[in-house]
Amino acid sequence: MKFKFFDEINSTNTYLRRQLRIEEFEVIVAKNQTDGKGKRDSTWISSEGAALFSFAIEDRYELDEKITIFTGYIVYKVLKNYIENKDKLTFKWPNDIYYENKKICGILCEKVRDYIIIGIGININNTDFGIFREKAIALVEITGKNHSVQNIIEEIVETFQNELYSLNREWEDILQIINENSYLKDKKIIIQQNGKFSGKEYKFLRVDRRGKISLIAKGDSDEIKFSSLEFKVL
Ligand code: BTN
Repeated sequence: MKFKFFDEINSTNTYLRRQLRIEEFEVIVAKNQTDGKGKRDSTWISSEGAALFSFAIEDRYELDEKITIFTGYIVYKVLKNYIENKDKLTFKWPNDIYYENKKICGILCEKVRDYIIIGIGININNTDFGIFREKAIALVEITGKNHSVQNIIEEIVETFQNELYSLNREWEDILQIINENSYLKDKKIIIQQNGKFSGKEYKFLRVDRRGKISLIAKGDSDEIKFSSLEFKVL
């Protein structure tokens, strides 16, 4: 596995995106990011002690719809080994890993030319979350001890590499694990449509084969699916 380390960089995703030649699985790691990117142009607060890294893969396995879910599954699988209370670790569609009601990891996959850049941020030994204090948690807070950020990054990239080639074959099993351990299971949510949240309540049903979220509205009999959605958990 090849690594490039930075004490500080704007964003490991942006760094890879700007490379003229992208090398598959070269891992860009930063101690700190000055312009960490989250989904929908949000900012990812980055501080030392977190795992902040990105790598790229060629987009050749019909990956588009699956890659974020697959990456979440890999991170979930690795982090679970560090945690005693495994049931509290869950996958939140489309790109987060939660511990109880707090986020421990966010994933940002971006398509660039013939590649997909996979950016992962995990709170490991960092505990300063600023305004996100109520919504975020770090591995150190769960286990009561510090962990090697480098070891966790290596484990994730290695597991990712090993399982990528069987992704399509194993997809149904991966989905089953994701759905059994979904943060949204049994939760009621409200959704944003045309820029507004309506009062209508929905129940999460599952993540489907194409990586879409499947919901059912209270009182309705038909399920509806979205490939991208803003929602709030009630
Ligand atoms: C999200 O939760 O919205 C996704 C957050 C992804 C953050 C990681 S940190 C490493 C990589 N570089 C970035 O700028 N973003 C991703």
